[in-house]
Amino acid sequence: MENIADLQSRFGSENVNFFAAAGDLAAVKLTNDFGEASLTLYGAHVMSYTPAGAVPVLWMSEKSMFTPGEPIRGGIPVCWPWFGADPAGKFGGHGYARVSFWHMVSAARTPAGETTVTLTLCEKDVDAKFAPQPFKLELTVTLGAALTVALKIYNTGKNDLAYSGALHSYFNVADASAIKVLGLEDCEYSDKVINVEGQQAGAIVIDREIDRVYRRTSGIVKVEDPVFARTIRIAKSGSTSTVVWNPWIEKSKRMPDFGDEEYHTMVCVEAANAAAAADDRVLVPGAMAELRQMISLS
Ligand code: BG6
Repeated sequence: MENIADLQSRFGSENVNFFAAAGDLAAVKLTNDFGEASLTLYGAHVMSYTPAGAVPVLWMSEKSMFTPGEPIRGGIPVCWPWFGADPAGKFGGHGYARVSFWHMVSAARTPAGETTVTLTLCEKDVDAKFAPQPFKLELTVTLGAALTVALKIYNTGKNDLAYSGALHSYFNVADASAIKVLGLEDCEYSDKVINVEGQQAGAIVIDREIDRVYRRTSGIVKVEDPVFARTIRIAKSGSTSTVVWNPWIEKSKRMPDFGDEEYHTMVCVEAANAAAAADDRVLVPGAMAELRQMISLS
């Protein structure tokens, strides 16, 4: 683990405080008038986001492992360089970025009183078993009126860099069966549960396992939560696919790092570059792309 005191002396401030999170992972807490957020350097994983005076917006499983090599269950996993199953069929789902140790690059206060931190990862930081191509990722998290998470992807190599990915946000809801997910009406989707292609009719209601990749989606998605009496607003750029996931009863039981009853209080709405929606990308040498998600309450 990177040394907490050293990180604090290099990047810390009144608004930026480093600490040892569960599993002894180096983590940083951002606090300002807008609220608070925390992330761990392991996976550049946003673990929490709570606007001032609000109930937490992000969900974290009580069963999550915080063990190097294992993904964290909740918050915002950075899925890269593949979303879903490894296209080469060798490794687990959602890529190696979420199970690698990132480095702090900077922490700053913006003129608007926001707090912003940037972390980076390149091929040298990744377990050699993945044989990564040259790349550089930069994840910038800004705590302001919204929580903005921006993933910049650079091709630093000499060959094309093909990837898929997602900002796999888990949202905290009072009762998943009471929410409505709005903004994907009429969109076409691939349903991974029953393996069919479909078209969304009206709002999404969670009354069974849902695992869908929606295509041609770049607009705002809203999670309307009548019990918490609030709406989570999710805007994005650099993505034309949106994944909506809730494991429901049986899949929750199959996942060791997910409580049997926890599906009641979460829903994932992911800003993706999903191959299933022909939204995977290729960067030529020297090119950069950005995937961004902006989360706020309304
Ligand atoms: C979603 C996928 O994005 O992530 C689901 O669509 C998957 O199929 C879920 O089950 C969780 O994935 P993981 O690898 O974190 O267990």
